[in-house]
Amino acid sequence: MRKYNIAVVGATGAVGEELFRVMTEMKFPVNKILPLTSSRSAGTDISFGGQKYKAVELTEDVFKDADIHIAFFSAGGSISEKYAKFAVESGAVVIDNTSHFRMDDDIPLVVPEVNPEDIMLYKNRGIIANPNCSTIQMVQSLKPLDDLYGITRVDVSTYQAASGAGKEGMAELVQQMQDFFAFKLEDTEVKAFAHRLALNVIPHIDVPQPNGFTKEEMKMVNETQKIMHKKMQIAATCVRVPVLRSHSESITITFGQDVDLEESREALANFENMKLIDDISKNEYPMPMTATDTDYTYVGRVRKDIYQNNMLHLWNVADQVRVGAATNSVRIAQKLIEMENL
Ligand code: A2P
Repeated sequence: MRKYNIAVVGATGAVGEELFRVMTEMKFPVNKILPLTSSRSAGTDISFGGQKYKAVELTEDVFKDADIHIAFFSAGGSISEKYAKFAVESGAVVIDNTSHFRMDDDIPLVVPEVNPEDIMLYKNRGIIANPNCSTIQMVQSLKPLDDLYGITRVDVSTYQAASGAGKEGMAELVQQMQDFFAFKLEDTEVKAFAHRLALNVIPHIDVPQPNGFTKEEMKMVNETQKIMHKKMQIAATCVRVPVLRSHSESITITFGQDVDLEESREALANFENMKLIDDISKNEYPMPMTATDTDYTYVGRVRKDIYQNNMLHLWNVADQVRVGAATNSVRIAQKLIEMENL
């Protein structure tokens, strides 16, 4: 089996570190890795596949002669904007985890369980975009139901973990909890989020938009329509909660026809990389602690609306650092290799 040279831009970040774990667990065929960071972390030891690598500073020339086949970018939109082209020029395919390219018409936005065929559009610019974490786990739940009944509208509220804001977000929540137990909560530092997150929930993720929604909420609208190739109506309310890892979502789905509850549950249970946990009489439903450190998207609390026969309500949870970022990227790379015989 052929092996690949892989660059990871943002190798010391929350998603970058997870990429190495996921590639190991999925036995991704790696020949060598090139871990890239800012000058701050250059020289840091990175272990992968029984070998030690040193992180290298990301520069315009770093891809030249490195013979990279696939470059994962997870260091923020401005870094992808500036450096992705150098990776592509060197012959690599870029799989980008930031929002920078997602809505460009000629760049595919891919969740492999939902729209694998779009991967081939990478030929346009050498780049495949990885969607927003909240979008990925939602479209995975929508797809099997859309295939059955045709979705016309989605209303979603998210419960998003601190790790969505990277390592800094997690560290800030832990520090705030420590300050609470030390009776110092009033003086705790608030930097990663708009307000203190410990013992609080914040209905505000990313910057406000002129229409009253936030950028995160509009990502869920626009990205879902692009991935599903469908202009269904969508309204999102994105909320940060004091959970370290794994996002949850309460989703209400309206269809063009009446739905059957058992058939819906079966379709969800059989969908690729999805698990249905749904027996509230036994306290069984997915929670962040169910999903964390796993590669599944979990669905539960599936209910038919009590007024309308064409509506379902469900609850969905996934480890957003994995399913919502690292795992989705590696799954894209696996499919790309398979489809292109790279
Ligand atoms: P560094 O360790 O050098 O700061 P997170 O999302 O967890 O905050 O991680 C962000 C990742 O992006 C880190 O690996 C970080 O590396 C990397 N990064 C941040 N700024 C740059 C930059 N200017 N060039 C390359 N990598 C960067």
